[in-house]
Amino acid sequence: MTQTIFITGASSGMGKDTAKLFHSKGWNVVATMRSPEKETELTELENVLVLRLDVTDHDSIDAARDVAVAAYGKIDVLLNNAGYGAFGPLETFPMAGIEKQFATNVLGLIATTKAFIPHMRANASGTIVNVSSMGGRVTLPLASLYHGTKYAVEGFTESLRYELEAFGVRVKLVEPGNVNTDFSSRSLEFVMDQSIQEYLPIAGGMTKLFEKMGPDASEVSAASEAIWSAATDGSDTLRYVVGEDARKILSKRNSQDDDAFHATMKTMMT
Ligand SMILES: NC(=O)c1ccc[n+]([C@@H]2O[C@H](COP(=O)([O-])OP(=O)(O)OC[C@H]3O[C@@H](n4cnc5c(N)ncnc54)[C@H](OP(=O)(O)O)[C@@H]3O)[C@@H](O)[C@H]2O)c1
Repeated sequence: MTQTIFITGASSGMGKDTAKLFHSKGWNVVATMRSPEKETELTELENVLVLRLDVTDHDSIDAARDVAVAAYGKIDVLLNNAGYGAFGPLETFPMAGIEKQFATNVLGLIATTKAFIPHMRANASGTIVNVSSMGGRVTLPLASLYHGTKYAVEGFTESLRYELEAFGVRVKLVEPGNVNTDFSSRSLEFVMDQSIQEYLPIAGGMTKLFEKMGPDASEVSAASEAIWSAATDGSDTLRYVVGEDARKILSKRNSQDDDAFHATMKTMMT
């Protein structure tokens, strides 16, 4: 029987590339996005259903799930991909921006997951793939909010694994390093008050760190192929790291204690 994947944030980047990859492999694809009326490519593909879903609008999650189940009967894989980055010194962020970051990357992912558990439990099968980041296990400066959300996704997923494996549902984490999507131009909200001098040195250090890490960025296909593996390899593997940059930095993180790793990162900011 043809299998079906349900994707959040399928309007661009990894979500869209994953939709196209699964379609090319003969899957049914439910490609959800905030503004489906703007989509012109996925709507042309057979067995791709484009639906509206904003992860911060929980009614839209239930509505899209119901349409998807009515169309395809069974959802085999849920890909929680929607997300964005709130970067900048914490004190310059309005509370509304902080709440939006967690409402999208954490509560939106949790609400979508929760909406599909009864369906997967009834089928005694299913795989939930959560797009975290290497930033769910290591941190960069001026990104306390983004890392807070991705560390939350990691803890949430690890614990949920115990809960769902009992009835045949797998949960997995995809942890990309830098991936060449439009994330930094369209999904990165940088809030900084230049008049607060104290943050200028760390902002400069962050720029240097990004410059050093930039050349190691992966193509988007590396991320969608990792998602394909997570969804289809039949294993209970929890984590799928994407990219040489992520592999290198996570290996360094695992080999050093907290303070040594902090010092290593600071040398990369000079
Ligand atoms: N690119 C990287 O280097 C990188 C590295 C590690 C992890 N990641 C993670 O990978 C995921 C995908 O990012 P990407 O690189 O593919 O960037 P992207 O092309 O900017 O995609 C982000 C997607 O999230 C969607 N989105 C944002 N808020 C949403 C909401 N409230 N409801 C539904 N969809 C929403 C966006 O939809 P709109 O079109 O409506 O804005 C867009 O489709 C994110 O979770 C990100 O944190 C990216």
